[in-house]
Amino acid sequence: MKKKLLSVLLTGAMAASMFVGCGTSTETTDTGAADAGAATESSDTAGGAAGGTKVGVAMPTKDLQRWNQDGANMQKELEAAGYEVDLQYASNDVQTQVSQIENMINSGCNVLVVAAIEGSSLGEAMDMAAEKKIPVIAYDRLIMNSDAVSYYATFDNYKVGQVQGQYIIDQLDLKNTDQTYTMEITAGDPGDNNAGFFYNGAMDLLKEYIEKGTLVVKSGQVEFAEVATPAWATETAQSRMETILSSNYAKDDLNICLCSNDSTALGVENALAANYKGEYPIVTGQDCDIENTKNMIAGKQSMSVFKDTRTLASQVVKMVGQILKGETVDVNDTETYDNGKGVVPSYLCEPVFADKDNYKELLIDSGYYTEDQLQ
Ligand code: BGC
Repeated sequence: MKKKLLSVLLTGAMAASMFVGCGTSTETTDTGAADAGAATESSDTAGGAAGGTKVGVAMPTKDLQRWNQDGANMQKELEAAGYEVDLQYASNDVQTQVSQIENMINSGCNVLVVAAIEGSSLGEAMDMAAEKKIPVIAYDRLIMNSDAVSYYATFDNYKVGQVQGQYIIDQLDLKNTDQTYTMEITAGDPGDNNAGFFYNGAMDLLKEYIEKGTLVVKSGQVEFAEVATPAWATETAQSRMETILSSNYAKDDLNICLCSNDSTALGVENALAANYKGEYPIVTGQDCDIENTKNMIAGKQSMSVFKDTRTLASQVVKMVGQILKGETVDVNDTETYDNGKGVVPSYLCEPVFADKDNYKELLIDSGYYTEDQLQ
């Protein structure tokens, strides 16, 4: 079924490709500034790619730094490639995102790039895209239960979790130790397909140590459903950890906080600062957000996983171009990401381990951040 849809999409894409390169407009329609709730509004009145080719880019929220970078990088590169861009942020509100995507379709976008807020809630908008033969690239997060998704571009999400799990194993030499260590787990949003990959990547390595008793989770909360953080919210991760700390670690040390990403790690770090007097634990993260990188430098977060949003944005821009020109689209994984309707051909970028020893090279020397941003 997917193959059939893809060929339909590609036919549509080839037709769309006739317009490639004709447009020079660089109008931006990002109305999500400050997430003020007005993000549904679109300033794009072009009524289609008048002489140009328009790419709709739907991002989840401006609250988390990485999505601002993802959006900005993509917009810059797409515009440099001659496309018009309709970039929208949805304040982490599913209905807002659905309306934004519908607006993109109605205003004549030729390709959609979507980082879903909730992978399973875009069904109707995806049906609409399929009806209009608009190819969709799922960006970073897979869109579930829809056969309208042509491609998926992300980082190797399972590997992100493995990098975190392996770090804990190496730091404490868990393979060779007789000691026991306490650990608490903070995972991501159950509505985000990535969250399970991160959790499983880490837990597939750490489970054996929990079973052996080398790692002790005093709260007893180990299953994904128990440790998940809706919307990846810092405040939610913080208040959960405050409760765990006061019930279990008023007298004992907490040695490890496995956190799936930086926004949840920040919540845990805030809770530790407010409610914990013991020896400071290992804290993992992901994204190298500015606050978290500062915390790594200050010794409040042990590591993060750097996912260079410039790499992902470039890959997606390349895929957009290939779709629109009817060329073979560059993918490197055709097995891992089944969205419930079939495996979505994917391109997985490499995540990279980051800590206080290599952040300068990774983040500053590469121009990702300036030194000032990390002061
Ligand atoms: C992304 C992470 C991000 C998280 C919260 C996930 O889908 O892959 O990089 O930290 O969402 O926004």
